[in-house]
Amino acid sequence: MDLHQKITELKKQKNAVILAHYYQVPEIQEVADYVGDSLGLSQKAAETDADMIVFAGVHFMAETAKILNPDKKVLLPDLMAGCSLADSCPPDAFRTLVEAHPDHVVITYVNCSAEVKALSDIICTSSNAEKIVNSVPKEVPIIFAPDKNLGKYIQKKTGRKMLLWDGACIVHEAFSMDKLLKLYKEHPGSKIIAHPESESHILETATYIGSTAGMIDYVKKHPAEKFIVATEAGILHKMQQEVPQAVLIPTPAEEDNTCACSECAFMKMNTLQKLYDCLLHETPQIEVSEEIRKKAILPIERMLELSK
Ligand code: 13P
Ligand code: SF4
Repeated sequence: MDLHQKITELKKQKNAVILAHYYQVPEIQEVADYVGDSLGLSQKAAETDADMIVFAGVHFMAETAKILNPDKKVLLPDLMAGCSLADSCPPDAFRTLVEAHPDHVVITYVNCSAEVKALSDIICTSSNAEKIVNSVPKEVPIIFAPDKNLGKYIQKKTGRKMLLWDGACIVHEAFSMDKLLKLYKEHPGSKIIAHPESESHILETATYIGSTAGMIDYVKKHPAEKFIVATEAGILHKMQQEVPQAVLIPTPAEEDNTCACSECAFMKMNTLQKLYDCLLHETPQIEVSEEIRKKAILPIERMLELSK
């Protein structure tokens, strides 16, 4: 049996579910029970009746699944799979900001630690951030963390002034404007689609801005066109399966002279072998203290309720 078959057998035996993000390597996406964006993955984690969740994504995603499922084993193939955005918001510094603004509602992007979630009022993802911000009465001031690019974009869309945390994603901040414009010239008639973690000068060039799932849906509505895709290159696997006729061109990073795409080194730490090993040995597991979990689940549940 090859690794794919062995994982399929094992997950049946153990009643495990494999949830994978679109940025995972293709062979992991192919063995997963569900591949989605951060919101879809949280929704699946909230409703699964499997005994064990194997999270093929990064640490904050698996942690969110654990917060929602304290009695299930939640496994992450590589515990070092972190996130620059989550790391840009240390809980102690965030607590200081929140405590200094007691009249503000705290909306936090899901890319953050359980401790930061525990200090928040509502969690959001890139697919529901606008709706979540609009759910807060107009006169109430908002703290938005940790992604300043998503924050600026939502500020512009909603007209709300928000106090923004100064965090960013290393992958989405690295796109090269010059290379993007060069590609656009080389591919006349192409459309630029971008993830809102990208900087505003990149977003200004885009015909469509949305979460990974939103970008795939957009391309599905225009299957015969050419797209320059400004997000992590792992998305191209599912996107191309959905629209085999479309021409999909990844946006390169400024510094990247070796390949013409942008990859998240954290997302790519998970491999099919590590996925098999973690399912077999049921380790590494995600743990969240009950004290933090009880606080962190409230803003996640608020998000899930507002996203129905
Ligand atoms: P979404 O899949 O929710 O758009 O998030 C993208 C991302 O950067 C996850 O780390
Ligand atoms: Fe974090 Fe960016 Fe990687 Fe997503 S792509 S996990 S936001 S570092």
